[in-house]
Amino acid sequence: MAKAGIVVLLFTVLVAATPPAGLGVSFGPKAVDKWFKHLPHAKEKITKLHFYYQDIVSGKNPTAYQIAQSNFTAKSPTNFGALSVMDHLLTETPDPNSAVVGRGQGTYGFAALDEVGLLMTLNFFFTQGKYNGSTLSVLGRNAYLNKYREMPIVGGTGVFRLARGIATAQTNYFNVTSSNGIVEYNLVVLHYDIK
Ligand SMILES: *[C@@H]1O[C@H](CO)[C@@H](O)[C@H](O)[C@H]1NC(C)=O
Ligand SMILES: *[C@@H]1O[C@H](CO)[C@@H](O)[C@H](O)[C@H]1NC(C)=O
Ligand SMILES: *[C@@H]1O[C@H](CO)[C@@H](O)[C@H](O)[C@H]1NC(C)=O
Repeated sequence: MAKAGIVVLLFTVLVAATPPAGLGVSFGPKAVDKWFKHLPHAKEKITKLHFYYQDIVSGKNPTAYQIAQSNFTAKSPTNFGALSVMDHLLTETPDPNSAVVGRGQGTYGFAALDEVGLLMTLNFFFTQGKYNGSTLSVLGRNAYLNKYREMPIVGGTGVFRLARGIATAQTNYFNVTSSNGIVEYNLVVLHYDIK
């Protein structure tokens, strides 16, 4: 009985240590424990990511919807008080039909009275290669009429556990009639080199 118990335990550890096919890192409480055990000896590394965010808010298949607004919003020149939720495609090039590398999911609220400025609560969810299943969380201010917007990356999961970094957004294309746009994102992420 004791032997069988050990065999089962070993098997469980092996399962936890081997990422499921298609995932870049192991998930689950045992995998996270193991990851933390390596943390004191782990080196920090920098990863740079580059992709395009397909900001489709109108037309046949929008990927963002307004979910609330204040009773002041209609009178506000900066749309203050409007809140939307999005699930935008992240693509390799500006072409919306190029390879999908993940999704940009979250909410954005118009949170500035005197200029157009968003509060972004955004999770980048990656679906390709070694980043498949990993996320990065952005919480920041996005004055999207500015050329460059800089937002903090406040954490992550999977290969990006305990990550921090900077996301730089730059509008690649914007249609003033439809309000649809394409935003180029450059991310610099500090995280740990642990499998
Ligand atoms: C990403 O992982 C999922 C499992 O969560 C898997 O179904 C999918 O095929 C993987 N995608 C790639 C491109 O490896
Ligand atoms: C907005 O709603 C609040 C609470 O109902 C009310 O006190 C306020 O007068 C309203 N403001 C406007 C601009 O309608
Ligand atoms: C901009 O959006 C309008 C309204 O949806 C559309 O008719 C027009 O073709 C778009 N312009 C470009 C260059 O895609």
